Amino acid sequence: MANAKPPTQNQAGQTHSKLIRLIAIIFLALIVLVGLTILIIWLTIKPKKLVYSIDDASIHNYNLSNTNHLNATYNFILRAYNPNKKVSVYYNKVDIDVLYDDETVSRGTIDPFHQPKRNATRFKLNLASHDVSLTNGIAHDLKAERSSGQVEMVVKLKARIKFKVGAWKSRHYHMKVTCAPIMVHFSSSSKGFQRTTCDVDI
Ligand SMILES: *[C@@H]1O[C@H](CO)[C@@H](O)[C@H](O)[C@H]1NC(C)=O
Ligand SMILES: *[C@@H]1O[C@H](CO)[C@@H](O)[C@H](O)[C@H]1NC(C)=O
Ligand SMILES: *[C@@H]1O[C@H](CO)[C@@H](O)[C@H](O)[C@H]1NC(C)=O
Repeated sequence: MANAKPPTQNQAGQTHSKLIRLIAIIFLALIVLVGLTILIIWLTIKPKKLVYSIDDASIHNYNLSNTNHLNATYNFILRAYNPNKKVSVYYNKVDIDVLYDDETVSRGTIDPFHQPKRNATRFKLNLASHDVSLTNGIAHDLKAERSSGQVEMVVKLKARIKFKVGAWKSRHYHMKVTCAPIMVHFSSSSKGFQRTTCDVDI
């Protein structure tokens, strides 16, 4: 017969499946709510990329010996711009590499700093090559370029950074900045220097 099953058991089964449906609906609603919250926070903060450029670059005290040893000092003006209205940036130590023909000819660092919202900071980087040994090929290229009054170099930055929004601080991110090609001139006049926009990778 159709009513072989006790009716009470049937009712219990229906209540059970209703409960499961309710839980599923609540769960889905929560997911949508969390998603919307993240979207709204994202839209309010609107994180923008950090902007880096080299605004001037010159080389001084240049001396390349017959044995291909290089002495020189470099002055770079590095501009770091944080375009964000709600996000400030904490930088740990920034490592600087100066390269010529893919060879590192100078290294330096920038001390840890905090960059406020909507802030542009210019760093004067005074770097040097002390008796850096170059290969014959690279020394040859450098001599040839030197006679043209400028040399093409690359500046690379590496840093660990944190973002701060209100009281909340993000985890650490690795930032890599590559500025290339930089036409480094031999005189201290910055006339005609072409600002080099850097590639920022976070
Ligand atoms: C370059 O260095 C060598 C060896 O230190 C020195 O004899 C020479 O005078 C230097 N040249 C210039 C232009 O400073
Ligand atoms: C570079 O400078 C060092 C001393 O700082 C000196 O011993 C060396 O001869 C110089 N080399 C060149 C090529 O000027
Ligand atoms: C950018 O921030 C630095 C460090 O806090 C500060 O010294 C500088 O005045 C700021 N520059 C601008 C344009 O707000």
